[in-house]
Order: sequence, then structure tokens, then C-alpha cells
Amino acid sequence: MSKNILELPAPKADLQLGHLVELGRDPIGFWMSCAKEYGDIVPLRLGKIPACLIRDPKLIEQVLCDRTSFVKGEDYQILEDMFGKGLVTSDGDLWKRQRKLIQPLFLQERIANYAEIMVDYTEKMLNTWSDGETIDISAEMMHITLNIAMKTIFNQDLTNDEAKIVAEALNLGMNWYESKRKQGFIFDRNNPTEEDLRYQQAFAQVDRAIYETLEHKRKNPESSGDLLSLLMEVRDENGSKMSDRQLRDEAVTMILAGHETTCNTLSWTWMLLSKNPQVRAKLQQELEEVLGNKKPTAADYSRLHYTKMVIKESMRLYPAVVDISRQAIRECHLGDYKIPAGCIVMMSQWVSHRNPDYFPDPETFNPDRWANDLEKHLPKGVYFPFGDGQRICIGKGFALMEAVLLLARISQKFQLDLLPNHPIIPQPSITLRPEKGMQVVLNKR
Ligand code: HEM
Repeated sequence: MSKNILELPAPKADLQLGHLVELGRDPIGFWMSCAKEYGDIVPLRLGKIPACLIRDPKLIEQVLCDRTSFVKGEDYQILEDMFGKGLVTSDGDLWKRQRKLIQPLFLQERIANYAEIMVDYTEKMLNTWSDGETIDISAEMMHITLNIAMKTIFNQDLTNDEAKIVAEALNLGMNWYESKRKQGFIFDRNNPTEEDLRYQQAFAQVDRAIYETLEHKRKNPESSGDLLSLLMEVRDENGSKMSDRQLRDEAVTMILAGHETTCNTLSWTWMLLSKNPQVRAKLQQELEEVLGNKKPTAADYSRLHYTKMVIKESMRLYPAVVDISRQAIRECHLGDYKIPAGCIVMMSQWVSHRNPDYFPDPETFNPDRWANDLEKHLPKGVYFPFGDGQRICIGKGFALMEAVLLLARISQKFQLDLLPNHPIIPQPSITLRPEKGMQVVLNKR
């Protein structure tokens, strides 16, 4: 007979808040201690909402693949304030329709068209760098990945006024989310604070900028190959196009979901490379053998095996998305346990990717562990930096190509060394960022 999850041992909870305080203060530390003390399935509470953290790969696979029992839950509502009903936050028939419409735009052969933009922007950035200079590499990666996102999604440059409005609002949105996270997401929507109002005004400007861009594109219909132009053209089986509101939601979703994640993946990679010179030397050797001095192209992507392994290993230790969740829409079984309707099931990449059962010596940065197609041989639900199941990240191919090409081109030109004694603190907001930036010294090769 199956047991009720609530009978399992659990960390002490506040009567009103449940575990919201611990999750607001230090989610990573809290999840790690839960997994260590209580194992692969741990009952929790978010205020009055029942929840659990799972690490058993079979259970993670079950939750991510069963869309009839597990949906994006109440905890995604805060993201809806920013993303609207784009792919990340929508569910049910709307999500199904949108995913079907958007998926073809992310086929590998289409993404390859963006490789040149990625490398060109890298080149422009490198031209501004000088030998011996100290920079905040996380701010620099933020700027370049946002530039690439604006160009590939809107065909606009960040020097453009509308693009600047979007960029500034996104930053405000991220800070707003972080502030709410620290308060355990408890706030009164009917009594907005000054911070809430500033954020709302910024997003109203984003909406205007995007609607103006749509208007401009309609008046100048020559296709520039950017994602927004392509989204404007796709039609569902009834011949209907997306509404302007839907286009806005998908565009904001892609910029938000697409640039911070890749930016942070690269920042953490620079930190890990600086701390592991033997890995950096091996990476350099591959770049010399495969590329020599020439700029990488989409065609080189499949030949940069070790570079890809470096990115995979970096995303294992510092996943840009540290957790995802689903909510049970009915009472159901999770392995041997019964969970109540409404239960929020949390799965943390940070925790799962450090599971010693699958990754020996889990804290060590060792890209070689990915040799011999390790990823294909791992059970599902063990390594999922891009999520899994039908809702796996639509931008996975785009992000991997961008991360590999940027890592390759920058490493060909500069060696980045962490500034000694500069504290680097992982801050798990919508994405995992270094809280106080990441200072590095640039050494020209
Ligand atoms: C290193 C970079 C990236 C990481 C680590 C990442 C991670 C993720 C994860 C974990 C999910 C699943 C969320 C869930 O199941 O709740 C997701 C979904 C998504 N990502 Fe990414 N992402 C990255 C880059 C991108 C890029 C470049 C784009 C677009 C240009 C993008 C667009 C999306 C969208 C639209 C979804 C929702 C898919 C759906 O539910 O159908 N992501 N991403």
C-alpha cells in the first residue's frame, strides 16, 4: 500500500510560512541539507501549499513527462507578471499550440544562421578589451548575450533607443523578482510599493517598444530573418497568426529566458577555468588544433568536442536554472508515495547534478567525465540543465552553440584570471548569477 508523503520525515516548518523563510534566505543551502538529511523525497510547505523536493531520477522523469498530472504551478505566477503567457509560463492547449508553432524556428539548421551574429558581436567586444585590464566579466557577458538576443530576436542593436528601453526594463524586472524572492514571494498586489510601480512602468514601456517594432515590421515587410519576424508569419492549422499580445509575450520570454541563462553559464565557466588551469590548457589545445587562428563558425561547432564538455561540466556544477517545479492537479502517486492535489514538486538541478551516485567526486570540475557519451548513458532525471520531457528548453541548441562559440573565440584571444580575493557568491534568482559580479584580469594571448 502506498504511503502518504506527509508521513515522511521533514525539516521543521513555521506554522504560517512553512519553509518559505529558508527558501527565501538560502534555497541552495536548504535543498542540499534536505537531500543530505532526508534523502530523495522530502515533504515541504510553501505557506499553506504542500510541496516536496525530489532527487530520485525516476520520480523527476515521471513529473517532467506526465503533463496530464503535473503542470506549471502557482509558483510560476510571479513570472507571468513579466513573461505574460509566453512559452515558459503558459500551459494546456495554449502552450501546445505555441510550442508547435515556435519549435520549427529552433531547428539546428536555422540556428546555424545565427552563428555569424554571435561571433561578430564577440569580435566587436574583444576589440574593446586591452591586455592587463580588470573587468567584471559577468557584466560583460550580460551585455554581449543581450546584444545577441536583441539582434537575433528583433534585428535591433543595443545602441537603438527601443532596444535600450527593453534592456533596462529587463534588468529592473530581474531585480524586482530578486527582491520578491527574498521576501518569500509574499506581497499584496492591491497595494503596490514604489518598487512595484517602477517595475510596472518599465514593463509598460517594453510593451510600447515591442508594439512599435511590430508596427514597423508590418510597414517594412522585407524579412530580416530575426525570430520576431518569423513568429509574425507562422500560422496554426486554422490559418490563424499570433495576436500582438501573444507576440509580445513570446518575444519577452525569449529575451528573458535566452540571455541571462547563457550569460551566467559563460560567467561560471570563466570562473571554473581560472580555478582549473589544467582544464584551460586542454581547452586551448583543442582550439589550436581545430581552429588555429581562424574565427569559429557553425560548422566548427560539431568539432569542438572538449569545448562542449567544458560547457556541460560547467552547467552541471553551476546550472543557470537551479530549480524547476510542477504542481499536481490531482492527488497522485509519486513512486511509492501519495501526494495531495495542489502539491508543488520541486526538482533542483543544483542538488541532482551533485548526486555522488552518478557523478563521482561531484564537487570536482572535470569535463573529461563527459567523454564516451556519458550524457546518453545517464538515466533520465539525473542531469537536466535544460529541463526535460515535452517542455525541455526550446532554446537548448541555440544556447549551446552560443556558449561554445563565445567560449572558443574569447579563449583564442584572451586568458581570463580571477582577481585574487574577490568574493564570488552564487545568487539563485531566476537564474544563478554571481551576486557581486566577477572581476577578472584580461591577459592577451
Ligand atoms: C544556458 C542557457 C539556457 C538554460 C540553462 C535554459 C534552461 C531552461 C530550463 C531549465 C527550462 C525548463 C523550465 C521548466 O521546465 O520549468 C527552459 C525552458 C525554456 N527556455 Fe531555456 N535555457 C537556456 C537558454 C534558452 C534560450 C537561448 C532560449 C531562447 C532563445 C530559451 C527559451 C526557453 C523557453 C521559451 C522555454 C520554455 C519551453 C516550454 O515550456 O515549452 N532558453 N530553459
